[in-house]
Amino acid sequence: MLITGGRLRDRDGLWDIEVRDGLVASLTPARREPEGADAAADTRVGDDVVAAEGRLVVPQFVENHLHLDYAHTAGRPRDNESGTLFEGIEIWAERKAAGLNRREEVRANALAAAREAVSHGVGFIRTQVDVTDPDLTAFTALVELREEIRDWCHLQLVAFPQNGMVAYPGGAELVERAVREGADVVGGIPHLEPTREDGVAALGRVFDLAERYGVLVDVHCDEIDDAHSRFVEVMAAETQRRSLQGRVTVSHAVAMAYYGPGYLSRLLPKLVAAQLGFAVNPNENLHLQGRGFGAPTPRGVAPVRTLTEWGLPVAFGQDSMADPWYPLGVGDLLRVLDSGLHVAHLLTPEYLARALDFITDNPARNLALDDYGIAEGRPASLLVLDAPDDETAVREKAEILLSVHRGREVFRRRPAETRWSV
Ligand code: FE2
Repeated sequence: MLITGGRLRDRDGLWDIEVRDGLVASLTPARREPEGADAAADTRVGDDVVAAEGRLVVPQFVENHLHLDYAHTAGRPRDNESGTLFEGIEIWAERKAAGLNRREEVRANALAAAREAVSHGVGFIRTQVDVTDPDLTAFTALVELREEIRDWCHLQLVAFPQNGMVAYPGGAELVERAVREGADVVGGIPHLEPTREDGVAALGRVFDLAERYGVLVDVHCDEIDDAHSRFVEVMAAETQRRSLQGRVTVSHAVAMAYYGPGYLSRLLPKLVAAQLGFAVNPNENLHLQGRGFGAPTPRGVAPVRTLTEWGLPVAFGQDSMADPWYPLGVGDLLRVLDSGLHVAHLLTPEYLARALDFITDNPARNLALDDYGIAEGRPASLLVLDAPDDETAVREKAEILLSVHRGREVFRRRPAETRWSV
């Protein structure tokens, strides 16, 4: 495949990108300039040649925080009336106790959700998988799915104890079992454990497993409207102590939005030293947090701008696709990015020019994808967006005209056509 006249985010001019044997075989300056910004919007030149005509060619998007095993379960066994995180967790436990999580259904729902995300330009997904289930039903289903879809989507599995490592009997052992049975990442949920001390102990076990089995870490951390929830500092300390810098992701980090300036100023340098990454889910936390506060309602989203200004990689994720926590969600990262930029006050020229970092390079770093990005010799996992730059891609929520995963075409799409009658 040859993609001609593409615009790249980190280089001037237009480029021809040759894809061969799954890799970007060559990257050369384009032979012709496009005929203006409105050049014929047709990527279907031929099977092997795609005319990008000045459009942006970017690496496939990376979804770094999703729960595929929960997808499409909203309302069963019941709706979340309060809209809170903790009612969602109760409903999920009821669902498991009622035997509603059958392996085949989990697999089918997760596959449909993965396809939905991929249709929006995602090529890499880190999914959390609930392992607080003695049968590891969802986990075994998703291990199968990881294999089934590997030609068109890279899937990372997090052994996630939704009902706790301490609070759920045998929770820590189940996490370890899932890690032994092939999880890529070890997860946790310290703010759900019975006491602060239990949460710290649970984090200790998470990091023990990371060391023992060489897996990455991604913890649901401080997802609560409580300034006293301070597990992120424990994560930073454990990361430093065990020299796991660059291998640890903090998910949600909602409580950071409530920390006072004195504590924050002491905390932030520790997060930088530990090289923590952040996975923030703006839509879900806008929906779940700040309940019962009255007006003005707190936003309940981690302080993304502050983290970014400190040089910490922040990535936006979808988290939920029609599950007990959040009724919407289609895995469209451009839509999530739009929300994230708004809630974090990032609609400035500087941030808009680099907006796609939040759904490309930053989450790729959280997934530790070493060969991510468009460069000669790297796997060709890329998109053609119907926009010339980041800002336009966000403003217009650009169509994705072509998606390629490791050299394999995933889909092509023609831009929607509007026939004006006025
Ligand atoms: Fe989550």
